[in-house]
Amino acid sequence: MKKFHLAWFTNFAVTEWQNPLSSAGHSPWDGRFYVEMAQALERACFDYMMLEDTLMVSDVYGGSTEKYLKNALHVPKHDPAPLAAVIGSQTSRIGVVATLSTLGYPPFLLARLCATIDHLATGRFGWNIVTSGEDLAAQNFGMDAITAHDRRYDMADEYVALVDQLFRSWDEDAIVMDRATATYADHSKVRPINFAGSHYKCRGPLNTAPSPQRRPAYIQAGGSPRGRDFAARHADSVIATANGPRAMKAFRDDIRARAASFGRDPDDIKVLFLLSPVLAETMEEARARNERGLASPRTYDLTLAQQSAFSGIDLSQFDPDQPLPELTTNGSLAILSGFAQWGTGKTLRQLAREAAKGGAFEAVGTPDEVADQMGEVMQEVGGDGFLIRQPFNEISRRTILDVTEGLVPALQRRGLVRTEYVSKTLRETLKEF
Ligand SMILES: Cc1cc2nc3c(=O)[nH]c(=O)nc-3n(C[C@H](O)[C@H](O)[C@H](O)COP(=O)(O)O)c2cc1C
Repeated sequence: MKKFHLAWFTNFAVTEWQNPLSSAGHSPWDGRFYVEMAQALERACFDYMMLEDTLMVSDVYGGSTEKYLKNALHVPKHDPAPLAAVIGSQTSRIGVVATLSTLGYPPFLLARLCATIDHLATGRFGWNIVTSGEDLAAQNFGMDAITAHDRRYDMADEYVALVDQLFRSWDEDAIVMDRATATYADHSKVRPINFAGSHYKCRGPLNTAPSPQRRPAYIQAGGSPRGRDFAARHADSVIATANGPRAMKAFRDDIRARAASFGRDPDDIKVLFLLSPVLAETMEEARARNERGLASPRTYDLTLAQQSAFSGIDLSQFDPDQPLPELTTNGSLAILSGFAQWGTGKTLRQLAREAAKGGAFEAVGTPDEVADQMGEVMQEVGGDGFLIRQPFNEISRRTILDVTEGLVPALQRRGLVRTEYVSKTLRETLKEF
């Protein structure tokens, strides 16, 4: 069977500070914990480590910031860009991806930042392209409310076209460094772009030297039809949630068909599905661990607080023992409808439990058992891999090692994932198989 790809999903947030077995009390803000995380993932030959991000302190759940601050959920969350630079310079093969919102950055600054980090990471940087979907985020950038959903993507299409031109504003051979003629760069090979669109305008050229990848790898997570078009047009890797192998296959087939319709080779897009494996030495222990996590009232609360923050709808107002009424949002309807599963009759409590599993299927067991499950699911889906997230917000060294020293070797023994890197840049690594 064809090998599949592995990436890791996290954010620059507090670690598992409540667990007596974790490095409680140690500040994560110097980045060392995350650098060591990346180094462990590099030993396990992951394609990339992805740093999620949002730009607000939510007060949606229960109409207060309390749940978020008390539980350190969504906040504090530090800027992923400097962390990506540090990780990139402290590793040599793994890709590092930072989420940067088109809401927050003028295109010129974003292109400059990406080029700079791609240099520091020696060609292994990726940009997770998000538009932000929260009014609270918009209000941090001088707006009253977030732009309508599909229009955000129209703007993002233009935004990406602009930054692509900036990345190409220096020819590959513009830097000559010829001592004999005392010439650093050939000015005739560096040109303004004079971009004038409906939303953005920029003269260019970029004032950074072309980076090893020219442009970073593009990561995207569009879930709506408009979002999928955007992802299929631009992404090198699409990250997604889906409920079970059939939905995974349908999603991947759809992205590939859209990509082909835009004239792209579908094999140039790696679709990775979120998965939160619950691992232990025996199946019984893994099941017990899973049940403890799912049944905890904290998990219920945190899941609803998270869904509320993304959708902008206060889910604390609904009866836990009834299905959710039909709702709409200008945030992500794809995320909300995936959570609500309208028409199934599932109660809010059941929905929260399913969301807390946090993955494309329930991966619970010993490393060997979970590796078998992952192999079978990938066979059914057709590719391309998984985006691993630690279950129940348990970000600790211990749970990282469960994956890198337990699960990955089991996958490697089956020939399902790589055992060594052969490429230098993140984009090449993604295209290896
Ligand atoms: C695995 C995954 C990671 C995501 N990471 C972020 C993120 O870091 N920041 C963010 O604002 N949105 C993030 N999103 C939301 C997506 O950008 C997107 O809004 C969502 O998948 C729904 O798609 P839609 O906007 O087309 O409806 C993520 C979504 C998924 C599935």
